[in-house]
Amino acid sequence: MIKITDLKKVYKTGSIEFEALKGINVHIKKGEFVAIIGPSGSGKSTLMNILGCLDGSSDGKYLLNGHDVCVINDEELAKIRNHEIGFVFQSFNLLPKLSSLQNVELPLIYLGMSPKERKNRAEKSLDSVGLLDRKDHKPNELSGGQRQRIAIARALVTDPAVILADEPTGNLDSKTTEEIMDIFKELNKKGNTIVLVTHEPEIAAQAKRVITVKDGLIVRDLYNYE
Ligand SMILES: Nc1ncnc2c1ncn2[C@@H]1O[C@H](COP(=O)(O)OP(=O)(O)O)[C@@H](O)[C@H]1O
Ligand SMILES: [Mg+2]
Repeated sequence: MIKITDLKKVYKTGSIEFEALKGINVHIKKGEFVAIIGPSGSGKSTLMNILGCLDGSSDGKYLLNGHDVCVINDEELAKIRNHEIGFVFQSFNLLPKLSSLQNVELPLIYLGMSPKERKNRAEKSLDSVGLLDRKDHKPNELSGGQRQRIAIARALVTDPAVILADEPTGNLDSKTTEEIMDIFKELNKKGNTIVLVTHEPEIAAQAKRVITVKDGLIVRDLYNYE
């Protein structure tokens, strides 16, 4: 489903070039639960941002379900991208003036869905993270863990092919971290494909596959056995 070949990323700051990804090759199949782990600065976010089409690569190939989804200025691909990728950020990235329900509805607006269907889908998604009773709350009326659950509901609402999460528990205490990881595990059990970045081994150990990144390269790729 995700196929990356020889992916490279060079950042240019003034006249200085820095190669953050030096040739990443990886194949992630439908239904996998992958943790990407590595020290700070190893290129994890760079990789995730490219997977989520939030940033472009300098070289190499990235195919999602056979599509070169990150190609810009292509309406058809933009639609696929919005539909097939759900992104969860460390800092939640919810819109503060919108209610939980409105935040979760947002990706559906871009898909051109009717208001009624949007509401139905968003409520279902909120329910799946256990927060339907908070649908009218604004982000500042919710705890950090609840905000992240809303963000997960937003990522889920389009029924994406893959959920990408960059340090989703980075701003949360250990008990809340466990709750969020339980949600990811539950979603994976239901068949969702999840790629999650973390720098904490205890979190990575909860995934089915752990890919270790160091200095812009994959140095280890192991499956956890239950
Ligand atoms: N926009 C940028 N411009 C220049 N260098 C960057 C930029 N983003 C990240 N880097 C550098 O690329 C390397 C990898 O960063 P990042 O992918 O954020 O690492 P990680 O998420 O593993 O901590 C770091 O050395 C970082 O300083
Ligand atoms: Mg990072």
